Amino acid sequence: MKIKQIKRDNPNFSQFMLKEWKLVFNELYHKKFDFSYWHTQHLYFEATEGKKIVGGLIGEFFGGVFYIPELMVASGYRGRGVGESLLKQAEDWVKHHRGHEIYLFTGTNWRAKKFYLRVGYQVAADLPKLYAKEDFVLMRKFLD
Ligand SMILES: CC(C)(COP(=O)(O)OP(=O)(O)OC[C@H]1O[C@@H](n2cnc3c(N)ncnc32)[C@H](O)[C@@H]1OP(=O)(O)O)[C@@H](O)C(=O)NCCC(=O)NCCS
Repeated sequence: MKIKQIKRDNPNFSQFMLKEWKLVFNELYHKKFDFSYWHTQHLYFEATEGKKIVGGLIGEFFGGVFYIPELMVASGYRGRGVGESLLKQAEDWVKHHRGHEIYLFTGTNWRAKKFYLRVGYQVAADLPKLYAKEDFVLMRKFLD
């Protein structure tokens, strides 16, 4: 047996993973396999003022769960509801696509943590020394 790193997902590799997942899926999840539900979708939401981009949210949707790796509002536009509107838009998208949860990581001592608490997220876990060995929290919001 040989193990090698491959450059990118390719048809043979994807077919192999899909075929093997289908074989164990029912045993692990007690459900019928639904490709559209288990296929990762990458989403991008942009907030604009005229032609200027003032905020952005990046999301990944998989198995009814929406992960937000990035949320950013332009420095001169913070504290005016742009971040809340971006989250609301993402939340509406998730609900519309049979999603039940959103999660993200934020710094334990970042101002953003208070913002997420205000809009309904809960701290699910403390993750000391995570990115760049800084302290983070895992925050999640259930939608149903
Ligand atoms: C956190 C962030 C996305 C919130 O978006 P926003 O448009 O500023 O937030 P809203 O106006 O909808 O809500 C206001 C809340 O945002 C937070 N906020 C306001 N100004 C902020 C700033 N300069 N930095 C961080 N958070 C800020 C506060 O919690 C504020 O609530 P408060 O008024 O009760 O203190 C935005 O401030 C930002 O991009 N900050 C820098 C990057 C960052 O921390 N991103 C999150 C990574 S997980």
